[in-house]
Amino acid sequence: MVDKKNIIKLKNISFSYPDSYQKGPSLNGTDVKVLNDLSFELNANDKIGMIAPNGSGKTTLLHIIMGLCQPDCGVVELFGEKLTKEKEFALYRPKIGLMFQDSDDQLFNPYVIDDIAFGPLNLGFSQKEALIIAREILSDLGIEDLENSIVHKLSGGQKRLVALATVLAMKPEALLLDEPTAGLDMEVKTRIEGILKNLDIAFLVVAHDFNFLKSISSRIISMTEGKVLMDDQIHIHQHEHIHKYGHDPHTHV
Ligand SMILES: Nc1ncnc2c1ncn2[C@@H]1O[C@H](COP(=O)(O)OP(=O)(O)O)[C@@H](O)[C@H]1O
Ligand SMILES: [Mg+2]
Repeated sequence: MVDKKNIIKLKNISFSYPDSYQKGPSLNGTDVKVLNDLSFELNANDKIGMIAPNGSGKTTLLHIIMGLCQPDCGVVELFGEKLTKEKEFALYRPKIGLMFQDSDDQLFNPYVIDDIAFGPLNLGFSQKEALIIAREILSDLGIEDLENSIVHKLSGGQKRLVALATVLAMKPEALLLDEPTAGLDMEVKTRIEGILKNLDIAFLVVAHDFNFLKSISSRIISMTEGKVLMDDQIHIHQHEHIHKYGHDPHTHV
């Protein structure tokens, strides 16, 4: 039987940034709702890709799930528990690994190995155990050679892989990845694609690259007007088009 254990459930969430600098269509000065009566679920075994334009609220949605933003109304449930307070979210955060849109928000130790061992240490593992876990993850991701590298000297792609390693080191039950391949070259992109295809935990991955999402997910969803559009509400299609010099493979963003 398919395991349908619920990991994330959002019910009727609305959210506006209090210091909203974007007045958008709301000309009477009230805050524009970034999330507007949004509902969403992630269950065990779900592999969901999300593609939606910049500014549609994807990052905000992930931050609401992690308790980094408090919704104005609506319910956040993680693993069947309704959460409102910071200390409740703090208990569940290690079970859901969020990879931030900007790797610099994730990495704060001088050396790669310390950044990856940080999570397991926080979970109560000894220094020795945390190092073993960190080295295992480095090896799983094929980046053992970065163990003693200085984080701020890494390339963008290396930082992204290390950020993913810090999240996986917590052995989460689900992953939220915010544009994990943005700005990466083909080699790192393919590597991340391979890692995600081999993962046996549920995930929600936000990206602008349709082919990448298609290859790693079983469903692709979108967002508009502050709501999630499920796959039966969207029609994904690819265009045929003509280019003057279009013989070589290429993608459109
Ligand atoms: N800290 C903030 N303060 C005010 N407005 C914000 C803040 N962060 C994001 N926004 C606005 O909220 C909207 C959604 O942003 P975001 O969730 O980052 O979208 P996406 O990840 O889909 O690009 C955008 O219009 C953005 O300008
Ligand atoms: Mg974003």
